[in-house]
Amino acid sequence: MAINIVLLGPPGAGKGTQAKRLEARYGLVQLSTGDMLRAAVAAGTATGLRAKAVMEAGKLVDDEILIAMISDRLGQADARRGAIFDGFPRTVPQAEALDRLLVSMGRRVDHVIELQVDEAALVERISGRFTCKSCGAGYHDRFQPPRVAGICDACGASEFVRRADDNADTVRRRLAEYHAKTAPILPYYRARGRLRGVDGMADMDRVTAELEAVVGSLPPGAA
Ligand code: AP5
Ligand code: MG
Repeated sequence: MAINIVLLGPPGAGKGTQAKRLEARYGLVQLSTGDMLRAAVAAGTATGLRAKAVMEAGKLVDDEILIAMISDRLGQADARRGAIFDGFPRTVPQAEALDRLLVSMGRRVDHVIELQVDEAALVERISGRFTCKSCGAGYHDRFQPPRVAGICDACGASEFVRRADDNADTVRRRLAEYHAKTAPILPYYRARGRLRGVDGMADMDRVTAELEAVVGSLPPGAA
């Protein structure tokens, strides 16, 4: 039986960090639409060419593009056991489309978890973030530095990258988009009795433990 988990929260809330941990813990696949779009930009595909300027401006890419991308991705073999949605849905039309899509596959959104964070912490989290250029492992200058400075813990590579949209101006625009377009998803899921909140300000291990308590304590589909 597949399990589908949606992680919600503003930029820097810890969605990607925690999705990777849950992926390992539950054998599910992380579906990060931000990562998919960045890969499309890097590869220079038609979607990437359309998305690049929008992402750099801190705006949301069109719903149709994202819905088609997730629909395609959910059909792939590694998503058979279920998925952790990281950065999707991000608008009410995307949430409605995800419900329709999963129902058509005989599945549903089992858990919707909001990572709750103080806005003041987000800019610091995002501006300190970097990832390994080779394997994509995530780090933070202060909260999660590599064990040996300059060397990736996971793969030993020594080149790191920072995201083009992680500067203070763009982060403010991403936050404004979150409040205007993504926050309305919270009442959408609350009205369906699916929403749970987790304190995203706790340290990373504590947040993981709280997420596991929510996912592990609820039989899929019971919420
Ligand atoms: P996306 O890549 O999804 O970015 P985002 O939502 O802005 O979220 P972030 O990736 O910045 O934050 P996160 O919550 O993953 O935090 P992380 O775990 O890295 O989207 C980018 C763009 O793509 C969008 O702006 C839009 O243009 C487009 N897009 C994507 N999806 C779309 C969609 N569905 N529709 C339309 N457009 C879409 O953590 C941040 C940092 O904090 C890390 O350094 C981490 O080490 C650290 N940290 C994490 N947890 C903790 C903790 N508990 N304590 C201390 N530090 C922590
Ligand atoms: Mg992320």
